[in-house]
Amino acid sequence: MCGIVGYVGSQPAHDVVLAGLKRLEYRGYDSAGIAVLADGALASVKKAGKLANLEKALVDRPLPAGSTGIGHTRWATHGGPTDGNAHPHLDNASRVAVVHNGIIENFAALRDELSERGHTLVSETDTEVVAHLLGEEFTGDLAEAMRRVCRRLEGAFTLVAVHADAPDVVVGARRNSPLVVGVGEGEAFLASDVAAFIAHTRSAIELGQDQVVELRPDAVVVTDFDGRPADVRSYHIDWDASAAEKGGYDYFMLKEIAEQPKAVADTLLGRIGAEGQLTLDELRIPAQVLRMVDKVVIVACGTAFHAGLIAKYAIEHWTRIPCEVELASEFRYRDPILDARSLVIAISQSGETMDTLMALRHAREQGATVLAICNTNGSTIPRESDAVLYTHAGPEVAVASTKAFLTQLVACYLVALYLGQVRGTKWGDEIAAVVRELGRIGEEVERVLETMEPVRELARSLAGQDTVLFLGRHVGYPVALEGALKLKELAYMHAEGFAAGELKHGPIALIEDGVPVVVVVPSPRGRSVLHDKIVSNIQEIRARGARTIVIAEEGDEAVVPYADHLVRVPATPTLLQPLVATVPLQVFACELATARGNEVDQPRNLAKSVTVE
Ligand code: F6R
Repeated sequence: MCGIVGYVGSQPAHDVVLAGLKRLEYRGYDSAGIAVLADGALASVKKAGKLANLEKALVDRPLPAGSTGIGHTRWATHGGPTDGNAHPHLDNASRVAVVHNGIIENFAALRDELSERGHTLVSETDTEVVAHLLGEEFTGDLAEAMRRVCRRLEGAFTLVAVHADAPDVVVGARRNSPLVVGVGEGEAFLASDVAAFIAHTRSAIELGQDQVVELRPDAVVVTDFDGRPADVRSYHIDWDASAAEKGGYDYFMLKEIAEQPKAVADTLLGRIGAEGQLTLDELRIPAQVLRMVDKVVIVACGTAFHAGLIAKYAIEHWTRIPCEVELASEFRYRDPILDARSLVIAISQSGETMDTLMALRHAREQGATVLAICNTNGSTIPRESDAVLYTHAGPEVAVASTKAFLTQLVACYLVALYLGQVRGTKWGDEIAAVVRELGRIGEEVERVLETMEPVRELARSLAGQDTVLFLGRHVGYPVALEGALKLKELAYMHAEGFAAGELKHGPIALIEDGVPVVVVVPSPRGRSVLHDKIVSNIQEIRARGARTIVIAEEGDEAVVPYADHLVRVPATPTLLQPLVATVPLQVFACELATARGNEVDQPRNLAKSVTVE
C-alpha cells in the first residue's frame, strides 16, 4: 500500500528513484511522483494514474540533475487519485517535500491548526500536513524536525522527506508501515521494499517501530522519535535483481506461477533431515512450550487465510490439537479466549498486513505465543512475533498471490508435522509418508504446470461468462475459495466458492444452463466417502445444466462420465492435494483475465500490501 523510495549519493536521483518506483508499483498504482533536490531548490513532478503517466510527464518537464531525491507510487486513501493528491507534497515555500505510506489519523486537527497559522493546504490528503509541519520545525536539522513532527502524529505512517536547505540528506520515519535502508558505496537508499534498490546494493538495514533515519551518502544514523540512538539489524539480501524482474514472462504472475516448484522446494530446504525428521530449530519456541499448547488459532487475510483454512485440517489431524482459523480483521475486534497455552499462527506474505499485525498484537496481549509464517525478511509481523518460519518464496510482485500461497501451505504442513513430532502423535507412519511426499511435491507441481494448455484454452472460451462457481469438500473447500478469489480479483467476474455439502442449502439455486462450475475432487483413495459424495454433487449440478470443470487426480475414473472438462493432477495424500489442485485455478484465472483484457499484475482497486484497514 504505497511504495516509497529515497536516494542520496552521486547518481542522478531521478533515474535511481524512477527505477525503484517501477519495482514498487505493485504496492499501488493510483498515482506517482518524484522530487529532486538540485542547486538548493526542490523540483517535483507528479501524475495521476500509473507510473507510465509520470514517465511521460517527465519527458515533457525533465527534472534537474540532482543526486538527492524521493519518489512515491500511491494507493489512494485520503483524497482521490488526482495529480493534486499525488505525492510528493510540498510546503507553501516549496522547501520541503514529503512522501508517505499509511494514515495520519489526527490530520484534520493538524490541518485546521496549520490553516489558522496561515498555511494554505491544497490537496485532500492527510500527508500534506507533514510537509507544512516539517517546514515549520526545520531549523537546519531535518532529522530533528522529523522527530518533532512524528511525536505529534497519530496513526500508522512511514514518511520520507528532503529539504532544500539540507543538501545530501534524506530523512525517513517509520511507524508500522515498512521502511528499509539500503547501504551502498557512497550512496544510501530508503524504500518500502528492498526490491527498489536491489540493483544497487544487497546490504540492508531493517528499521524498527518508531524510528527516524538520516541518510547521507556516507552515513546512516538511526534514532528513536526522542533522538536516542536505536538498535538496528543489518542483513544481506539473499536474492538478486533478476528475482524481481519478469525474466521473459509477459506478467510477473506467470513467472511466479512457474516458479512454484522451486519455491516449495526452497521452503522445505534444510528443514527435513535424512531420516525424515523435521528440524525447525529456527522456531526458537522451546519444545516444552509446544508440548503444552492446547489450542492453535490461525489469523490471516485473503489468500493467506485460505492457507490457514487448509492448515486446520492438517494440524487437527496430525496433532489432535483444536485449531481455529479466523480472518484477522474479525479476530482483532473480538474477545478471543487465549492464554499462555495458545499458539497463534499469523500467516502473511508481506509481513505488513495491518489487520494481521493488529491480530497478533491482540493475541500477544493475552499471553499467547505467536508464530509468524512470512515471506518478507525483517517485516513487521515476524519482528513482533515470538518466532518466525520464513517461506523463502522469493519476491512476489504480482498483486494476486500464487507462489506465496503454495509456500505458506508447505510452511503450515511443516508446523503441523513438527508439532506432531514434538508431541509424539499416533500418526508416526503417516507423518513419515507425508514428509517423503512433501519432498517430491515440487516435481508434482512441475508436472501440473506442464499440462496446463487445455486449462488456458478453456479459460479463453469462458471469457464472455458472467459467473463461475467453485465447489470443494474437506481441504478442497478452501481450494475452491481460493480459485474464486483469484478469479474475482483478476477477471473481475462473479466467482464464489462453496463447500459442496452446502449445495442443497442454497447455492444450487444458482445453477442454470451453461454456468461453469469448477469442482475440486478429493482422492478416491483414503477417505473415499468424501470422493463418492462429491461425485454425486457433480451429477446433481450437471443434471441442472452446469458445465462441469472437474479437477481430479490421475486414475480417478469415477468422475469421467460427469466431467465436461477434466483437469488431471498427480495423486497425492489428501491433505497435500491443495498444493497441486490450486495450480490449475491460478492458471485459469490468469488466462481468463488476459482474455478479458485485464491488467494481470495490477488488478483494479487492489494493492499488494494492505497496510491500512
Ligand atoms: C490475493 C492476495 C491477498 C493477500 C492478502 C494478505 O491474491 O494476494 O488476498 O493474500 O492481502 O496479504 P499478506 O499475505 O501479505 O498478509
